[in-house]
Amino acid sequence: MHRRQFLKLTAALSAAGALPLWSRSLMAASRPLLPVPSLLEPDAHGQYTLTAMTGSSEWNGKRVPTWGYNGNLLGPALRLQREKAVTVNIRNHLPEATTLHWHGLEIPGAVDGGPQALIAPGATRQVTFTPDQPAATCWYHPHLHGRTGYQVAQGLAGLVLLEDEASGKLRLPMQWGEDDVPLIFQDKQLSDDGTAIAYELDILRAAVGWFGDLMLTNGVPYPQHAVPRGWLRLRLLNGCNARSLHIAASDRRPLYVVGSDGGLLAEPIRVESLPLLPGERFEVLVDTSDGKTFDIVTLPVTQMGMTLAPFDQPLPLVQILPLRIMASGTLPDTLVTLPALPATEGLQSRWLQLMMDPQLDQQGMQALMARYGDKAMGGMAGHGMNHGADDSAMPMDHGAMPMEQGAMPMDHGAMKGESHPADHYDFHTGNKINGQAFNMTKPMFNVPSGQPEKWTISGEGDAMLHPFHIHGTQFRILSENGKPPAPHRAGWKDMVSVNGWRSEVLVRFNYIASAEHAYMAHCHLLEHEDTGMMLGFSVS
Ligand code: C2O
Ligand code: CU
Ligand code: CU
Repeated sequence: MHRRQFLKLTAALSAAGALPLWSRSLMAASRPLLPVPSLLEPDAHGQYTLTAMTGSSEWNGKRVPTWGYNGNLLGPALRLQREKAVTVNIRNHLPEATTLHWHGLEIPGAVDGGPQALIAPGATRQVTFTPDQPAATCWYHPHLHGRTGYQVAQGLAGLVLLEDEASGKLRLPMQWGEDDVPLIFQDKQLSDDGTAIAYELDILRAAVGWFGDLMLTNGVPYPQHAVPRGWLRLRLLNGCNARSLHIAASDRRPLYVVGSDGGLLAEPIRVESLPLLPGERFEVLVDTSDGKTFDIVTLPVTQMGMTLAPFDQPLPLVQILPLRIMASGTLPDTLVTLPALPATEGLQSRWLQLMMDPQLDQQGMQALMARYGDKAMGGMAGHGMNHGADDSAMPMDHGAMPMEQGAMPMDHGAMKGESHPADHYDFHTGNKINGQAFNMTKPMFNVPSGQPEKWTISGEGDAMLHPFHIHGTQFRILSENGKPPAPHRAGWKDMVSVNGWRSEVLVRFNYIASAEHAYMAHCHLLEHEDTGMMLGFSVS
């Protein structure tokens, strides 16, 4: 069957009365269809426009105010070509300032859209850049300091599909919305009456992040999607503010990971399930040739606060319904050549120590227990240090920490200082890196461009998951929480897990970022980021 016929057929499927007999039993009339973000078209001048705007969405039969780009919720996907310049007009029709950051793109600080790149209400900002990095699934979202969590929770996020020659030659599935399907996963908490997004940034959220019990895929709870039979490509984005996910097929059919945050892997990696951090992307291929219906689910995780129902058992995210049409993409044996890692001896190294004020940690945990009870601690009974890492190695090994450039102010005296009464403690700067909450005006350090460096990000000292992200680079993970990276995490990445232990990444910045438009390195648990766990750095 040809593409056009397929499109007609899926359009027909969308109109409930028109379902062919053989599929009527498959498509549950009550289950919503998966919305597929449209591909943004350039205007007559070849420019793109993204307008951040207010709107509304319907969940559980109720209208809820939401925000989106060029629409009510989320945004269109931008399909970009490597080495081809792109101009985007970013218009702000929101009642407050915003910024638009290109997460995963290696572009200069001046167009990166970090917290300095404010767009006032009513204003437009134009950016032009030329991506020059391997094909990847990236995304865009707001980055207004102190407000990123709120604005993302309102619905602002969209995908960037970067293509290159190598990716075009592989016969991966690439019919958008048919056998190449984006899945943006987000959880939300609605108000008790279900008519508003109940976003809060309080001491509880500053400690464990904002999370909710309404799980959405492309903005809809548990939708269904009809696909051709054969190889199905899923572009997975964990767009949650704080919640880590653990993706699997309901019948445990294997997932073949072909790409990570910043590009395709050397070869497909077969996994049974796939942990997915907030901010992280993976591309997976799934074999649907048996024609059987299955769900993509998220399995329970042990992250603090994220163990409550309905996340205490496999939770369906989207139902996949293979049609009697053959898909044309394939699963190649090999994908792209990843450059060998250089020797790390002698490289400039930096230490980023993630820290949470003890007051925030204690009071946040108390608030979590008070609100949700023990259940919220899930598998994490006995909150304290380092769950799941190697305890024998736990004593802070200061000797092993590189002390060059004095980037390691482990001021234990200050960390363990007197705790203040709750009403005096300001959690807005309760999360820190190297002892400092985010400082918009002063980058923490400067990095020479074009030089590989080894960065160690340590979360020793708390039991929180910190999904860590660095702007301006696609890096390689050298070690993750004390272990070599899993094979599907060994390619291009811009996110690394820091979970009660430390992780090492090999970074390199190919573009300039001035102090005024510094790049950011931060925890992508957005409430940690918004309350200080972020640093700016320049590249020259
Ligand atoms: Cu996805 Cu600095 O952000
Ligand atoms: Cu980013
Ligand atoms: Cu964090």
